[in-house]
Amino acid sequence: MNDTSFFKWLVIILFISFGWGCNQKTTLAQANKTFSLATVSSNWNKADSLLALMTISEKLGQLQQLDGGISKNDLPRLIEAGKVGSVLNEVNPDLVFKYQKIAIEESRLGIPLLIGRDVIHGFRTMFPIPLAQSASWNMDIIEEGSRIAAKEASSIGVNWTFAPMIDISRDPRWGRVAESPGEDAFLTSQVGVAMIKGFQGDGKYKNGNLAACAKHFAAYGLTEGGRDYSTAIIGERQLREVYLRPFHAAIENDVMSFMTSFNEVDDIPASGNQFLLRKVLKEEWEYNGMVVSDWESIKEMIAHGYCKDLKEAAYKAMRAGVDMEMVSTAYNDYLETLMAENKINISQIDEAVRRILWMKIRLGLFENPYPVKENAASILSKEHLETAKQAAIESVVLLKNENEVLPLSKTYKSVAVIGPLANAPHEQMGTWAFDGKKVDSQTPLKAIQNIFKNKVKVNYASGLEISRTKNHDGFSAALEAANQSDVVLYFVGEEAILSGEAHCRAHLNLPGAQETLLDELSKTGKKIVLVVMAGRPLILTNLLPKVDAVLYAWHGGTMAGPAIAELLIGNANPSGKLPITFPRAVGQIPMYHSHKNTGRPANESNWVPIDKIPVEAWQTSLGNTSHYLDEGFTPLFPFGYGLSYSSFKYKNLRINKNKMTTSKSILAEVDITNTGKYDGKEIVQLYIQDLFGSVTRPIKELKGFQKIELKAGGTRTVQFEISAKDLNFYNADLEFMTETGDFKLWIGTHAASQDFVEFEVVDNAE
Ligand code: NOJ
Repeated sequence: MNDTSFFKWLVIILFISFGWGCNQKTTLAQANKTFSLATVSSNWNKADSLLALMTISEKLGQLQQLDGGISKNDLPRLIEAGKVGSVLNEVNPDLVFKYQKIAIEESRLGIPLLIGRDVIHGFRTMFPIPLAQSASWNMDIIEEGSRIAAKEASSIGVNWTFAPMIDISRDPRWGRVAESPGEDAFLTSQVGVAMIKGFQGDGKYKNGNLAACAKHFAAYGLTEGGRDYSTAIIGERQLREVYLRPFHAAIENDVMSFMTSFNEVDDIPASGNQFLLRKVLKEEWEYNGMVVSDWESIKEMIAHGYCKDLKEAAYKAMRAGVDMEMVSTAYNDYLETLMAENKINISQIDEAVRRILWMKIRLGLFENPYPVKENAASILSKEHLETAKQAAIESVVLLKNENEVLPLSKTYKSVAVIGPLANAPHEQMGTWAFDGKKVDSQTPLKAIQNIFKNKVKVNYASGLEISRTKNHDGFSAALEAANQSDVVLYFVGEEAILSGEAHCRAHLNLPGAQETLLDELSKTGKKIVLVVMAGRPLILTNLLPKVDAVLYAWHGGTMAGPAIAELLIGNANPSGKLPITFPRAVGQIPMYHSHKNTGRPANESNWVPIDKIPVEAWQTSLGNTSHYLDEGFTPLFPFGYGLSYSSFKYKNLRINKNKMTTSKSILAEVDITNTGKYDGKEIVQLYIQDLFGSVTRPIKELKGFQKIELKAGGTRTVQFEISAKDLNFYNADLEFMTETGDFKLWIGTHAASQDFVEFEVVDNAE
């Protein structure tokens, strides 16, 4: 007998013995025994044989995710009745244990629960916010950070994280830019994959791994005007080319689940979007993992104006391919009626249930559903804190360092530590730090005091209570501290709550009176090091001339303090680079490196600054180009920018062939020398431009990078192999392919590096 027919018989026997819709209880022990007896050949088969035992109510139950807080009183009863497939936001291990025990021992089929949580950048040991992690360009440390987060979260029973968030974000007004890996599809894909590998590990929950969730599908980062939940307006080519790419990479790396986004794409909310979910994700990409809605995003399709009521919302979400519903209850309230009306059929529901069961089986939850208690000992362990510190160190970006004010001179006898972020343990954790605790945070002030002990006097005065403080009550103490010190370390930025979901800003200056205090501090004539701790790029244009150095430290997590302190004193050398362009002014947004050339590209010689326009100048557009009269055409800092205490010289950029066939690769190389006096790390970036195509192509695209270490005085040749698949794009007919023609290639220290070589892609036959 082959496997398939064996199974048919098995299912029939089980079906008969348990009965469709019967109330008789079958315990997990019995069910598991049945499965092991069956020696099932695959997880899918396991899911199918279980599916065959389920009543419609149990099937709908699997599609329901409820919030541990909101539904607390009802959960035990609902779980026992098989009406819940997943619980989110329950982090009390005793309650998680209790719920799993009810699911396994008291529900009829003993199906374990998925316990979901936003473990976004750490659990108790908080790592830097994802945007900051992306600034490290260090995939090993990102993977390790996610592994640590998973291990800690598994100890209290969480088995599913709603991460990574891989929405391309080009608008720093959007609060969720903090949670994203930034503006670039290539870098975002790499960061997403590193996180998935870290979270999922071998895929088994008992080994401290979590199912990951690629979110938010799709184009959420394109939210109009940077206002959260707003509309994404985008054509299919750009959608595929840029916004969907990291999601495809996630599938190639076996991500176990997807989450839909709140926004609409091409006038259809993502949670009801057949094109996105059914056509692209499930059919074209053949994704066989599970799709969860975002929080009530099925219900929100009513407010969007896409569904007139919850019933229609259930219909459209199921039709589109959402498998599990987060918090709202459209599926459980209406899918049976929709079946009776022949609008939804059982095979659609079965498909959704099957994906959810498969995820539970893959995680090994049937065998090991309970909190992995032994992992609790690792929470905030020395190893975890050390990795968090390294991650924070590598994520800090040095934006300015005039006259080498950093690292701090060993001759200093006193330093002033000023600013609302210097000793703000809660704020440094950043957004989405649900399980982090401020008592665990090591602040910059504490770390600096610790390092300097009695050797250097630390004069601390926050100056402003929080980042939004407007009054000047603390100014005099701050100025006194500055006057008494050899150098000023001014810690500014944003509190954690000013970025993240629904926390968007129209102005990106320093909130409160932080800039006014800087003005006062600069009058003291002291050297000023500005340390910015924020969840997004802020507009630094007016601040730069007033300070000697800028360390952009983001929200660095539990260990932000020691990380910043080590960088300040030179125990560590800055090596982060911007994962997102820093504009000069909000009015320039969106501004990103891989934009199009336009028919009238601006350059240094053709742009017209506002003050150069003659009075009553004749209105003409002739000779004018694409720029702002008041802010020009360049950003304040380009994508990929970041300094080091060392300096790196790039020489001899070369390629081994200037013709490349579509089936062969070429090698590009450059020699890099550390010409500074410190050992350091450099992120070497490869950019390519396809000069002409059947559709227009960006002026530059990141195609590779390497983070290398170079001893002071050392030289190294860095090599990139480029093949046709790296040059693929969606052509005029929306085919993903490489077109022959001319290309430019840069290997440089950031996206605005100038040295390039040219090559041509030719057909194999040529
Ligand atoms: C809404 C957010 O958009 C999503 O990212 C998150 O995972 C869910 N809430 C659950 O908290």
